[in-house]
Amino acid sequence: MNNETILKVDHITKRFSGLVAVNDLSLLMKKRTIHALIGPNGSGKTTTVNQITGAFPPTEGEIYYKGTCTTHMQPYQIARLGISRTFQNLKLFTSLSVLENLMVGGHQMTKMGILNFLINPVKAKQEEAQLLERAEEVLEYIGLKDLRDTNVKNLPYGKQKMTEFGRALMMKPELLILDEPAAGLNPTERKAFVDIILKTFDTGIDIFLIEHNMDVVMNICTDITVLNFGAKIAEGSPYDIQNNDEVIKAYLGDKYKPIMAVKKEVL
Ligand SMILES: Nc1ncnc2c1ncn2[C@@H]1O[C@H](COP(=O)(O)OP(=O)(O)O)[C@@H](O)[C@H]1O
Ligand SMILES: [Mg+2]
Repeated sequence: MNNETILKVDHITKRFSGLVAVNDLSLLMKKRTIHALIGPNGSGKTTTVNQITGAFPPTEGEIYYKGTCTTHMQPYQIARLGISRTFQNLKLFTSLSVLENLMVGGHQMTKMGILNFLINPVKAKQEEAQLLERAEEVLEYIGLKDLRDTNVKNLPYGKQKMTEFGRALMMKPELLILDEPAAGLNPTERKAFVDIILKTFDTGIDIFLIEHNMDVVMNICTDITVLNFGAKIAEGSPYDIQNNDEVIKAYLGDKYKPIMAVKKEVL
């Protein structure tokens, strides 16, 4: 694997009983890129992310993160290597506050397990304090300081999604995987998300992005992989993808042909 590759997905196939959700998918993600994975609903995008993050292993094939084979690692092991994700269907505790949700998300970062917590309460307290400090930092970063103690269920959807984004940042990842971060957001919320994705990328975190909003994808991504029925049908730059006949037929439709004008105002 060359030095430039952060993530290598090597011929993975995922079968659920009779269904082939991901079919012999290979992709390389380079360091310092925002890499998009796009395709119609049900084409295997989330299933791909689930395998990269260790929710379940592929039926066949291997996955490497910075040269380390992660194919059969547990989610917490992969998280500790530096990969973090958000969930398409938010995984927040709705009756907990924004701050508490961030702290729960950061728990994998602390060295102490539950058992140690009981055995060594002093050390556990120190780690709790570090976690709180990190959560306050993230709150500030995502602009939700004022909503620190608000229960997540009382937040508008856009702010819930921002909380989910913050939760993923708690562990200071090197690779952040975002599963449809802008879905269901209004244009103002979407712009806030694009801004924070770019800002986060600028801090040195590489981004793997699943997204249906093509204005977002085409304007912020450097590389795109396209899935259809679990299989890769194209990969390349936004220019390549917008002009790929198979992608237009399977997913984009005629809307993006000829080349879409870059519409900064929608971002
Ligand atoms: N845990 C699962 N068990 C059974 N089938 C699944 C599971 N997860 C996903 N699938 C199926 O795999 C296919 C791909 O789903 P998914 O990866 O969620 O697609 P996408 O994220 O591209 O919309 C779909 O047909 C979906 O119903
Ligand atoms: Mg999905």
